[in-house]
Amino acid sequence: MKILILGVNGFIGSHLSERILRLTDWDVYGMDLRDNKLGSVVNNSRFHFVEGDIAINKEWIEYHIKKCDVVLPLVAIATPKTYIEDPLGVFELDFEKNLIIVRQCVRYKKRVVFPSTSEVYGMCSDEAFEEDSSNFILGPICKQRWIYSCSKQLIDRVIWAYGEKFDLDFTLFRPFNWIGPRLDSIEEAKEGSSRVVTQFISAMVNKKPIVLVDGGSQSRSFTYIDDGIDALMEIIRNDKGCANRQIFNIGNPANNCTIKELAEKLRKIFTNHPLNTKNVESPEIIVQDADEYYGQSYQDIYTRVPNIQKAQKLLGWSPQISLDNALQRTLDSFLTELNKVSSEKRPSFTEQIKKMKGSKVNTDFIAPKNEAFNPKQLTK
Ligand code: UGA
Repeated sequence: MKILILGVNGFIGSHLSERILRLTDWDVYGMDLRDNKLGSVVNNSRFHFVEGDIAINKEWIEYHIKKCDVVLPLVAIATPKTYIEDPLGVFELDFEKNLIIVRQCVRYKKRVVFPSTSEVYGMCSDEAFEEDSSNFILGPICKQRWIYSCSKQLIDRVIWAYGEKFDLDFTLFRPFNWIGPRLDSIEEAKEGSSRVVTQFISAMVNKKPIVLVDGGSQSRSFTYIDDGIDALMEIIRNDKGCANRQIFNIGNPANNCTIKELAEKLRKIFTNHPLNTKNVESPEIIVQDADEYYGQSYQDIYTRVPNIQKAQKLLGWSPQISLDNALQRTLDSFLTELNKVSSEKRPSFTEQIKKMKGSKVNTDFIAPKNEAFNPKQLTK
């Protein structure tokens, strides 16, 4: 099978590619702005990558939609701060640009597996959200946060209608707060524009306080990426058409917890983590008003639990990874990555010595490439 993944270097795209290449004989054709999250995947002979932008490289995309069997358009803005700061950018990318891809899938009769979102349910008051019966409850227009939910809802409806009117072969999947390695970048988190888990990890490693928006009594059902990818693999395999024209919540109701509990769990894991070499003290947790943290056009969602019976029944899938385990693995990966980057950035022996004013040490030799600074060598 040939799979086209647009946004292949993203959180979901990179994990999915890795799994496909490891467990199947499928080919992956991927486009993204960069390939920095793809690791050794780029060396696989069944992985075909092109650096590009979905708004620009239209011919490449059309050609590959024709060529491939399944299309996953994963390019989207998915961080709440951006919904408020750049609402039109969210609409243009998440709705308009993706609509072009969806229409090409209709035209060339290709199967599209499209990322909807848990956010479409908005402030729905159901205890657990169901794909085919829950209502979508959004706030007023002046609350820009809902433009993402609304854009995604509209494209879900358009895809559904193309299924009915033009036989588009589709599956919509709704991730519920997937977390794991490569979720967002720590650098973006410094600006406050990442999702909550990355935001908290970034605060701890940068010795900044963890901020609980409005006290942190709101809850989310955090789902480990590997569980999400298990479900996606079943959707792509589509055994006996089990996922045809279906919408699936892909989340872990057993991992539902408040944001305050999340902060406390992460802080505990971080404080005792072997890679936490500098931050021996326990990071501070503070409370901030949503208006102050996000701005006035933000509105929060207080409960968000998925009903996953449909995925369990039709896909034979159930999430396996507990919240504690998911947080441990996520933090491990971020700290390992940060440690690697900081040792790569560490100045070479020669650079360190040159900086030392008045040093009597002869710096006229070349330190081996990537050699880490070792102060003991100075005394030799
Ligand atoms: C997310 C994003 O919209 C998308 O990534 C996605 O479609 C969807 O939900 C999902 O992953 O299911 P949300 O869960 O509100 O929305 O995003 P986060 O930024 O992760 O925030 C979760 C909660 O933590 C919110 O209540 C927020 O107010 C709170 N928060 C966030 C804090 O208390 N402190 C922070 O520093 C950041």
